[in-house]
Amino acid sequence: MSPASPKQDSATGGWIVLKFGGTSVSRRHRWDTIGRLAKKRAEETGARVLVVVSALSGVTNELTAIADGASDSAQRVQGLVQRHLDFVAELGLDAEAVLGARLAALRGLLDDPRAATRPLDWQAEVLGQGELLSSTLGAAYLRTQGLDMGWTDARDWLDALPPQANQSDWSRRLSVSCQWQADAAWHARFDAQPTRLLITQGFIARHPEGGTAILGRGGSDTSAAYFGALLGANRVEIWTDVPGMFSANPREVPDARLLKRLGYAEAQEITTTGAKVLHPRSIKPCRDSGVPMAILDTERPELPGTTIDRSAATVPGVKAISRRNGVVLVSVEDIGMWQQVGYLAEVFALFRKHGLSVDMIGTSQTNVTVSLDPSENLLSENVLAALATDLEKIGRVKVIVPCAAITLVGRGMRSLLHKLSEVFSSFGHERVHMISQSSNDLNLTFVIDEADADGLLPELHGALIDSGAMPVLEKEVFGPRWRELDGAVRPRPVPWWHRERPRLLQMAAAGTPRYVYHLPTVRARARALKAVAPVDQRYYAIKANSHPAILRALVDEGFGLECVSLGELRHVFASVPGLDPRRVLFTPSFAPMHEYEQGFALGVTVTVDNVEALRRWPELFRGRQVWLRIDLGHGDGHHQKVNTGGKDSKFGLSAQRVDEFVDAARALGTTITGLHAHLGSGVENAGHWRQMCDELAGFARRIGTVSTLDIGGGLPIPYSADDEPFDLDAWAASLAEVRAVHPAFGLVIEPGRYLVAECGVLLAHATQVIEKDGVLRVGLDAGMNALVRPALYDAWHDIVNLQRLDEAAEAMFDIVGPICESSDIFGRQRPLPAATAPGDVMLIADAGAYGHAMASTYNQRELPAEDVIDESAG
Ligand code: LLP
Repeated sequence: MSPASPKQDSATGGWIVLKFGGTSVSRRHRWDTIGRLAKKRAEETGARVLVVVSALSGVTNELTAIADGASDSAQRVQGLVQRHLDFVAELGLDAEAVLGARLAALRGLLDDPRAATRPLDWQAEVLGQGELLSSTLGAAYLRTQGLDMGWTDARDWLDALPPQANQSDWSRRLSVSCQWQADAAWHARFDAQPTRLLITQGFIARHPEGGTAILGRGGSDTSAAYFGALLGANRVEIWTDVPGMFSANPREVPDARLLKRLGYAEAQEITTTGAKVLHPRSIKPCRDSGVPMAILDTERPELPGTTIDRSAATVPGVKAISRRNGVVLVSVEDIGMWQQVGYLAEVFALFRKHGLSVDMIGTSQTNVTVSLDPSENLLSENVLAALATDLEKIGRVKVIVPCAAITLVGRGMRSLLHKLSEVFSSFGHERVHMISQSSNDLNLTFVIDEADADGLLPELHGALIDSGAMPVLEKEVFGPRWRELDGAVRPRPVPWWHRERPRLLQMAAAGTPRYVYHLPTVRARARALKAVAPVDQRYYAIKANSHPAILRALVDEGFGLECVSLGELRHVFASVPGLDPRRVLFTPSFAPMHEYEQGFALGVTVTVDNVEALRRWPELFRGRQVWLRIDLGHGDGHHQKVNTGGKDSKFGLSAQRVDEFVDAARALGTTITGLHAHLGSGVENAGHWRQMCDELAGFARRIGTVSTLDIGGGLPIPYSADDEPFDLDAWAASLAEVRAVHPAFGLVIEPGRYLVAECGVLLAHATQVIEKDGVLRVGLDAGMNALVRPALYDAWHDIVNLQRLDEAAEAMFDIVGPICESSDIFGRQRPLPAATAPGDVMLIADAGAYGHAMASTYNQRELPAEDVIDESAG
């Protein structure tokens, strides 16, 4: 179909089409908004405005019941009449004058002789009443508000296409498509309408044989698109109750981003695979006629919304992920007729015979697997059983239900595969039944069991952002997160290093790379924990950062210290004079015997995590008190490499062997006074520790001698603006709840990262700025030897040019170090000031935990220096 040439109304600047759905037309203040927007568009652009409306919310459902012959149809009609009368009264209009004739027509449909047999033309007329009523009362109201608003019957303008051969009678009347190209006479008639502003109905059109035809699902969006295409409109705006299309369903992924601008093909794919905000049918008419579309929020018209147009920025990358439930997979194995001409046709003929439309297809030498989308099919058990019986004649049939289809949508999927390794690893835990990549390179779909899909989308969404596969830094395309728009975001406090910038620049002058730690921040985190955590003792896991000043500050705040090696034990006693050994935990893993020996000799609390140690060194443990570390069989954490629970983890005694340990300990007179678990680091799920406490309490009761439960560390911090700050209150509340259930035990935590990550920055000088094949890189005098987290865990750290903190960061750089390893990269495609130059002082944020502590002299590069800031700069 050739695009319609945009036809400009000569007296004005063409047409703009605004569509409002049910919730947008059911309240008076919403009609005020409609009026304001129509007037504003006309004034701003000089265009004439066509408003397309749905029925008041809920009305079409009632009309559907009446059209279906509900036994209480008379009552339903009465209810609808009353609903509209009430609303007209609320609008301050004369009910009889405005709606009298329309309501009489509605009542009249029940008295119509056709009501007895309910032919499809009568049903269409019934269904169309809602829009006729809402548009009529809306036009009348807006006129009383002083608008030059005309009313027109959509059936005078939208013509249903002649019936297709394979169309059912039902869809020929109740799910029609319309003509969307207009001749000069049509334009002349339309433009001749006297008012600048016009209102009409969505959902209805003229049937080729006369009377009403219905557009079917998504009807009003599609009506607006048809009008937009027919008029060659400047724009079609779909006004709804969400701020636009998002990179995922915001109810499932609160971090989903607003998609500010999309091409038609991407938008089509996103709507087809799940987004409900726009009906997929409505895109083609606008696409074919080059009419831009926008999705906007009626309650918040100031938000940018989503624009769909031909010239949308062509940024490759994943734009959205979606999930469809209830998908059925049908797999046919051992197909006897493989490679015979027409064998696939034979298979698909059977799907056709049962009226099933196939969504995705995967074939191999001996297998054909197809997916059936429930939204396109009537998937009753009977239909599936009948299909299976027929398919059995061809091969072995397996029906897999219920499945979920997880789809990644975006341009250039094929060139992204190398960035999707984390995504594939997210699926690694699930059974993937089928992977399908569309030939238009817009869509990659994984089919998994529906139960496995729960909770997967937020994880996938995060992984796509972290890997760079979803390019959220592209401001043209990606807008704010849903939870920001929803007002659920606490603004991130300005980090301490903004205030300390002059001092940091001075410190950098003394030599870089250099870590700087801000003790007031350490104390603030310690106090925040003390204020809420319902625990009896807090220890600091010194492996995160063992700088003596930090250890002393935390001991002064009442924290004990948790150590994992003899080296750490010696270090704490050397750093904190007079430290009481009862305030020290020793939690080694696979340590040599003498470390346990020294631990007991120093008088610290020793934790054991295996039976073999007791058996091998009975004399070491005889008569001692120990804590026992248990692997509760599940783990968590910001990266697979910091997950310390479950079968793949080396830590902790298997829960299956607890009784064995207890027996071995008893035989030695060893008393288990504490139970310990630490199942991962950077855990975002606040319920994680509550579950641990509950599970440990169960073991403690069985053992009988236990008085303390240590639920480890693992509290996360927000490394990037995308991370939700940890909800300390929710965490504390869940601990308080579980404590109340197990009051007999003392509770202990041992966080590391939470206390120190945000107190530390790594300062470095830029050494070189280099362009290579279109990529700009800034090199630092610090590399992965100074901070290994990005190389090891793909960890995110914010990076700024401290020298040019006030300049806009608008150029994209990869930030790299001097080490001879490809993984020596602190961040890819990060925004920095365009003037970033050698000699600038750069700052890597949130490096206080596992920064210097994990540094090395690899490549014979020196360890970074360390400095402490102890009082606030004021
Ligand atoms: N307790 C035990 C027994 C631990 O093994 C750890 C950390 C902690 C407590 C403290 O965990 P935190 O609160 O800091 O999450 N290098 C990794 C983190 C490894 C954590 C090792 N164990 C990173 O940079 O993310």
